[in-house]
Amino acid sequence: MEQKLEFILNDKNISVHDNPAKTLLDFIRNNEGLKGTKEGCREGDCGACTVLLGEIVSNKLKYKSVNSCLFPVGRVAGKHVVTIEGLNDPKNLTPIQEEFNNEGASQCGFCTPGFVNSLTGYVIENNKLEFHKAENAIAGNICRCTGYSSIKRATDNVVEFINSLNIISNERIKSLVDKNIIPKYFLEIENRLIKLKKNESNDNNSKMLVGGGTDLFVQKAESLLSQEISFSNNYNLNEIKIIGSEIQLGAAVTVEQIKNSEIFIKYFPTLTEQLSLFASLPIRNSATIGGNIVNASPIGDSTSIFLALNSDLIISSKEKKRKIKLSEFYKGYKILDLMNDELVEEIIFELPGSNTKFSFEKVSKRTYLDIASVNSAIKIETENNLIKSVFLSAGGVSPIPLLLKETSNYLTNKFITAQLVLDSINIVHSEISPISDIRGSADYKKLLLSQLIKAHFIKLFPELVDMEVLL
Ligand SMILES: Cc1cc2nc3c(=O)[nH]c(=O)nc-3n(C[C@H](O)[C@H](O)[C@H](O)COP(=O)(O)OP(=O)(O)OC[C@H]3O[C@@H](n4cnc5c(N)ncnc54)[C@H](O)[C@@H]3O)c2cc1C
Ligand code: FES
Ligand code: FES
Repeated sequence: MEQKLEFILNDKNISVHDNPAKTLLDFIRNNEGLKGTKEGCREGDCGACTVLLGEIVSNKLKYKSVNSCLFPVGRVAGKHVVTIEGLNDPKNLTPIQEEFNNEGASQCGFCTPGFVNSLTGYVIENNKLEFHKAENAIAGNICRCTGYSSIKRATDNVVEFINSLNIISNERIKSLVDKNIIPKYFLEIENRLIKLKKNESNDNNSKMLVGGGTDLFVQKAESLLSQEISFSNNYNLNEIKIIGSEIQLGAAVTVEQIKNSEIFIKYFPTLTEQLSLFASLPIRNSATIGGNIVNASPIGDSTSIFLALNSDLIISSKEKKRKIKLSEFYKGYKILDLMNDELVEEIIFELPGSNTKFSFEKVSKRTYLDIASVNSAIKIETENNLIKSVFLSAGGVSPIPLLLKETSNYLTNKFITAQLVLDSINIVHSEISPISDIRGSADYKKLLLSQLIKAHFIKLFPELVDMEVLL
């Protein structure tokens, strides 16, 4: 089960034989005795275990925050892991730590390493810092003591302080080292990573495939330790590209990659905003699209989005490649058209035309950092207010993520009016089968979906649907 793993932990080169399914958190704390990285929930919810991960992407060293409790150590091969010990200055607090200290933003201190790591990651990766973006970067971190006002003040002070420094954007790491924001050894990391061997064996499709691990390591971290695993990001499936009239996404593309992708920002500007509702930054930095689709949760967000985009999946095994509609992939609750030796390689869908609009809506118990109670997406092409084609999806209202085919057919070739929206909701109700659970009663979910469908039309066609009629 063991594999040779080579990576850099803070300033130290690591070369070990270990189980790739061990969590990075356990490796850091138990193998290396670095106890600054804390163990809280082990479910990606609290941020106490947040570390930074540096890797060379398009010839440039880039850092991102991840939850080490859900991150398999096998995935850090060839990368740089930074814990709080790797940011510490032996003599002084760093300026970021100093701000936390000055503002009383650390009391028991359990959450502080996670906050400092997340904020340092934001400072390293962004040339012009903004208050609300810095706050988003720490949004996955929970503090039980401070009440957050002091943390917010400390964060705002960090933004103001770093922006006041003369940091040279194309030499950002060097500049941050010069100003004692990060330690000197960061200067050598890029060259040291280039020399490291990446562990990219992808010879066996029948191993348990791990994407970001954000579902798998919540559901079965223990049992993964006795399984052969491989990683989807070792299959060169990390790109978003336009080929002809289609957008193609590798299955190992992360949610945060989509959020920042120029292609998505250009063609689906509101979607990139809505993806802030998907978990926290460290989870989005790990969570892959392939993982969301194959996990087959009826309330998966990207599943709902890609259903409405009328996507195809490219599925491959050693013997063959095949293409199927995402809407045909789900056969029953967690029953998929996918064999054990098959891998989802790509998600493909048509570029939207100039008359095509797209909307995604999600309702959860908490606005942020929560999985949906019900979600829905719609892609709609119109000509002079006539619906030429429409794909409407819904999550949380059936055992599988649903493309609402009958409702979509009903809407096609009709003029958009408020009455049409109300009539279509009657068809929706005949297509769904919500159950009562902790996320709400079946009736409540029915009502939520109706409201989300109204919201799509109010948002996309405010001049055509009279809100008074709808509400
Ligand atoms: C704190 C927290 C918050 C979350 N919030 C949200 C949220 O707001 N919205 C949401 O939709 N989800 C959310 N999730 C769930 C999860 O993050 C997503 O489902 C994520 O996209 C899963 O991707 P992954 O790469 O981490 O999957 P993994 O855990 O790596 O894998 C999930 C499944 O997919 C399989 N798999 C992965 N890639 C492939 C592939 N290419 N081919 C075949 N099989 C594959 C794996 O074998 C496994 O069965 C949250 C999770 C956590 C822990
Ligand atoms: S321990 Fe809570 S997010 Fe990892
Ligand atoms: S300072 Fe105690 S948990 Fe944040």
